[in-house]
Amino acid sequence: MTVDDAERLSVDELRDLQLKRLQWTLRHAYENVPHYRRAFDAAGVHPDDCRALADLARFPTTSKADLRDNYPFGMFAVPGDQVRRIHASSGTTGKPTVVGYTERDLETWSTVMARSLRAAGARPGDRLHNAYGYGLFTGGLGAHYGAEKLGCTVIPVSGGMTPRQVQLITDFQPRVIMVTPSYMLTVIDEFEKQGLDPRKSSLEIGIFGAEPWTEQMRLEMEERAGIHAVDIYGLSEVIGPGVAQECVETKDGLHIWEDHFYPEILDPVTGEPAEEGELVFTSLTKEAMPIIRYRTRDLTRLMPGTARPTMRRMQKITGRSDDMIILRGVNLFPTQIEEIILRTPGLAPHFQLVLTKRGRMDHLAVQVEARPDCPGERRDAAAAEVSQTVKDTVGTSVEVVVVEPETLARSAGKIQRLVDHRER
Ligand code: DLL
Repeated sequence: MTVDDAERLSVDELRDLQLKRLQWTLRHAYENVPHYRRAFDAAGVHPDDCRALADLARFPTTSKADLRDNYPFGMFAVPGDQVRRIHASSGTTGKPTVVGYTERDLETWSTVMARSLRAAGARPGDRLHNAYGYGLFTGGLGAHYGAEKLGCTVIPVSGGMTPRQVQLITDFQPRVIMVTPSYMLTVIDEFEKQGLDPRKSSLEIGIFGAEPWTEQMRLEMEERAGIHAVDIYGLSEVIGPGVAQECVETKDGLHIWEDHFYPEILDPVTGEPAEEGELVFTSLTKEAMPIIRYRTRDLTRLMPGTARPTMRRMQKITGRSDDMIILRGVNLFPTQIEEIILRTPGLAPHFQLVLTKRGRMDHLAVQVEARPDCPGERRDAAAAEVSQTVKDTVGTSVEVVVVEPETLARSAGKIQRLVDHRER
């Protein structure tokens, strides 16, 4: 199997390429997007000031609010007739974030997606069941064109209609599945409900992303479905899925495709460079919508490359800064609760966090389903164990309510872990 040329560059060659591409990107953004011209001018920097990669730090960051303020097409850097496709991410509030691609951008996207699939262990000729949603969401079409480019046979199922997902996997015998981790669990449950053993299905590799998931969840899915579970990361603003990918041979974090996306880590509060903190990306080749120092709000750290030695890795995302719950002064992420639940016998990986106000205090209830074979007396013990472990490891008190199997909402795409009922 040949690797993409970029995966073979030495570190020096990669840094040279990045600098050349960065200088082009800064100029392209400055000359064609009024927002960037204003922002650079206000910060007193000009694209000519970028003589080394480190100079990028002098340029202003871009936030989701900047994209919203320029809704719908204000961040585009090419004339409308050169835009071949538009995607949008709905977000939780307000207007969607709109992104655009030229023909070359679509080519870049399929290339990095194909590279991701290969790193995940997919090979030309594999059948690939794509259950990411098709439509404005970048998951479905992003995965689709990357898989075709690699030479896979794509089964474009999209999300939903769970019994049919199981039927198609059984009948079409795909080797690879792409889907959100939370929906994969629903599909695994459905296999078992139909009396089928998911371990006996044709699936060998699952490529899971679009939402945070933990090592404990990897074990759960690998065990129950008899597959390799690997992580894929991306976001619409940067291109879509295929920004970073975990390699199946190491499963040790995600290699960032640095020849197209330049990563930085900033302290989410001060905006200063940090070891661990908010992931920030600058696109290096995008034409329709170059993005400069985009603050993703995703929290992680960078590490040296392993399976792809020259490309840095990012650790599995802990969560988004917006998903962080501050409970009586203690920071808590839904992924921490996921780890604890999955380590507790009798509990299913289906859970939801509900925040309310009790008097002047915030109150967090963890609602979690019992596994179907979990006896009643075990449920009380499991609830007590989770609440004690949260207290010991996170340092705050939560209420744990174990509910009947199949009672919490399922999602065919990204799951909403946190329901916030506090008054603003
Ligand atoms: O979710 C793109 C995607 C599709 C990635 C399919 C992977 C697979 P957006 O809808 O713009 O794009 O949402 C991007 O989702 O900023 C993260 O908060 C979250 N996210 C994506 N991948 C991961 C991951 C797609 N592997 C937002 N782990 C990002 C944790 C992820 N969070």
